[in-house]
Parts: sequence; structure tokens; C-alpha cells
Amino acid sequence: MPRKKEALRKKAKNKTGKIIPKKGKQESPKTAEKETKAVAAKKGFQLVRGMKDIVPKEGGYWRLVSTKAAAIAEAYEFVYAETPIVEQAALFVRSLGKGTDVVEKEMYFFEDHDGNRLCLRPEMTAAFARAYISHGMHSLSQPVKLWNIGPLFRHDRPQAGRYRQFHQFNCESFGVRDPAIDAELVSVAYHFLKDLGIASLVHMNSIGNTEDRGRYVVELTAYLRTKRSYLSELSKKRITKNPLRVLDSKEEQDQPIIEEAPQIVDWLSDESKKHFMQVLEYLDALNIPYALRPTLVRGLDYYTDTVFEIYEAEGETSSEPAQALGGGGRYDLLVEQLGGQPTPGAGFALGLERVISLVRKQYQKEDGTGGLPEQRSPFFFAHLGEQARQRALPLIEDLRQDGILVHHNVAKPALKSQLELANKLHVSHAVILGHKELQDGTIIIRDMASGIQEIIDQKKLRRELRKILEKQAAS
Ligand code: HAM
Repeated sequence: MPRKKEALRKKAKNKTGKIIPKKGKQESPKTAEKETKAVAAKKGFQLVRGMKDIVPKEGGYWRLVSTKAAAIAEAYEFVYAETPIVEQAALFVRSLGKGTDVVEKEMYFFEDHDGNRLCLRPEMTAAFARAYISHGMHSLSQPVKLWNIGPLFRHDRPQAGRYRQFHQFNCESFGVRDPAIDAELVSVAYHFLKDLGIASLVHMNSIGNTEDRGRYVVELTAYLRTKRSYLSELSKKRITKNPLRVLDSKEEQDQPIIEEAPQIVDWLSDESKKHFMQVLEYLDALNIPYALRPTLVRGLDYYTDTVFEIYEAEGETSSEPAQALGGGGRYDLLVEQLGGQPTPGAGFALGLERVISLVRKQYQKEDGTGGLPEQRSPFFFAHLGEQARQRALPLIEDLRQDGILVHHNVAKPALKSQLELANKLHVSHAVILGHKELQDGTIIIRDMASGIQEIIDQKKLRRELRKILEKQAAS
């Protein structure tokens, strides 16, 4: 390469300050590492836009919400299952539909080293349907009820409550078409939120079967064409591409036209109407608050009949348009569409970032103080000297196996700083293992309030700690 060209190449830097490598020539890993270090030293690594760390102060909320999700899913006999984060891109193109926002604008596509066109899963339903077919689950007793919590990826415009990696609590029920199944799913979603102290309102609709919808779309398109000049630019484009999505528009100017639009319920077949009425009767019997929302169509193509979304009950009072906490519905054609045997199905997904932000509000004050009440152990296990430190971990583990948890910090060698920590944690008793105790097979229990110490046989430690726990529980 002539010198001038080489100099120009070196000058040409991309945004990260990296020199663009020569065409066809790969950077050596060492050069890459050096440059990466240089970038990191200059401005530090940044969180990728739209992604979110779960930091320690949020950890407790994630644990609480996951535990509640597992408890309710398992109470309703959903079985935990998981699929890979990476799937064939075609799986979602086929099931969610080409014209949908998720496929058209938001999917993370990539090609691997073998030239396979892959993606990061943008939702769970199609992935579970693929797994249902791949593992011949039609031969199991139906319905096959699966649940999970996992990360999903959509290259959405980041804003509050909208991330590019987010998490859903997902429940799917494959194999049976029955209104009781739809109602059970709504009930699980509703009661999960209720268990977390969130009052919610379920928006319900039915979009019928493919024929019902086909006839309705003809009617809707004709209506929208007559109102074309009053519609927003986005909705104008959607009239031909996907007229049902016009009903989802958040644009102010579209609202009066949507209100006057023909309603899909009037196009439902008798069977679909009956199914929907029965779902609503079940919800009445369950005392679940719901509102009929005739314009609810959901943004994914696989739905048939029942569709629903769940909102915070008081959410609509704020100036921002309310974001759904979750959504779901029936998808009786999906499994067959993906190459499986005809298999009805229904499910829901709740967005955990949105749910957790509401749970946090309950515990945190406006100035950011407060938080989840922690369940703390009343004991601190302290050690003095290197040999005692070695013995501490096995003893702590023995206690744990017996159901007794103790605070400790084996990284702090000085007894004084360990006891300071014990004070900070407001424990009632410190268990102290020193050099002498190690030799004698004894251990000290110190009452932190009175300072009174008792030396006991190490073998009696569990019994003594249990006694203290019982006394504290009784008082
Ligand atoms: P979805 O309405 O696309 O449905 O998503 C369900 C929930 O996931 C939303 O209501 C929201 O809480 C959360 N969510 C979606 N996108 C984001 C985002 N970018 N950031 C944060 N949270 C988000 C589905 O995914 C269907 N698979 C639900 C389903 C299950 N239908 C039948 N079975």
C-alpha cells in the first residue's frame, strides 16, 4: 500500500477511536486487546443502549417476583421449561407475521459462522411452540402447561418501561381449546399481580377465527379508506399493510375514527361468540375485574379468539399512556403453522421490569429511602486467627445444613472489625471461634446487648442457637 494511503487509513477512525483495519486483513487478538484497553481507559465501558443492569438494590425485588411467579405457576400445575435464547429467525417471522413491528423493526437478526440466519428470541410463545413440536409433546397428557421467566430482546425505542433486553413471566397451555383454559390463564396473571400487591384491570376482546377476521378486515379497510384523510401518516400506511393495527394506534387524531370503527365482535361466528361469552362468565365467577375493549387486537399475528391485556388498575390516571403489564390470548393455529399437528393453545406473558417498578413503589419512599424488609439472621459468626478462619466455613456450612443461617465475613481477619460489622447488622448474638476454643473443641456465644459470654461445647452449638431462636420467636 502506498505510504499516503496507509496514513489515510490510520487517520480514518471509527466512533470508538479504533483504526479501521486493512481490507481483508484481520486485527491480531493482541492489537484488538490493546485497543480495547485504550478505549476502556479513555471513557470506560458503557452499558449498551436499551439494556439494563440489575443492581444490588434491585436484586431483592427480582428474587421476590421470581419466587411469587414460581409459586403461582406451580400451584396451577405449569411445569418449568426453558428454550435457548438463540433461535432460527424464520421461526418468529413465520409465527408473529412479516408485517408486525416485532419482526419488521425490532428483531435482533444475525448470521453465525455457518451462514445460519438466527435471532435473539423476541418472545416466548413461538419458542415454546417450537419446543412442543421438537419434543413430541402432543403425546403427553394434554394440556401441556409450561412456564418460565427469561430474557427477551427487541430493538425497541428505549424509554421508561421499554428496554431492548427485558424479562417476561410466561405461561403457555398447549393442547386444549376450552374457555376454562383461557380463564385460568387470566386468573394466574391477575392473581400473580394481586399477590404482589398490584391491583389490575384486564382488558378483554375476541378476534374470532381466521374467516371471521378476514370478513371483518374487508369491512374495516373499507371504513378506514373513507376516513383516510383524517388519519395519521402511520395509520394511512397501515390501511393496506395491516389494517387491524390501525386500531392499536396511540395517535390522538386517530382516536375518534377508531371509536366509530366497526367492531370485530359483530363479525364473530356463533362458535367464537359462545367461546368468548363463556370465558367472560368464568371471569365473573372468579370475580376478576375486566373491561371489554373492542379495539384490542394485539400486535402479533398468531392470535385467534380470546385476546387480553393487563393494566395497573389506577394506571390510566397518569398523563402518560398506560403501558400494559402483560398480554396474551389464544393461538389455536400456531403449532400447525410451524409444522406440528393441529394443536390449540393459549398463554400470557407479563413484563417483569414493569411489574417490578410497581412493586418497588410500594416499598420505596419518594426520597429513595426504604425498601424491602430483609429477613436477617440474629447471629454473626466471628473467627480469631488463621486456623479458626479455616474452621469457620465448615462450621457455618454445618449450621446452614441444619437450617441456621449466620452472618459472617471470612475476608475480615481482625476480630474487632468483625464485631463492628456484627454491631452494624444489629445481631443479638455473636458466635466467636478463637485459638483456645479451637484447641478445646468449644465456642463462645456472646450476647451483644449485655456483653455476657458463654463458652459451650462446639457440639452443642446448634442446640444453643436453636434455643435462642425459639426464645426470640416466642417473645
Ligand atoms: P407482548 O404483548 O409482546 O406479548 O409482551 C408481553 C409483555 O412484555 C408486555 O405487556 C410488556 O409488559 C412486556 N414487554 C414487551 N416488550 C417490552 C420491552 N421492550 N421492554 C419491557 N417490557 C416489554 C408477548 O410477548 C406474547 N408472547 C404474550 C403471549 C404469551 N401470548 C400468548 N402467550
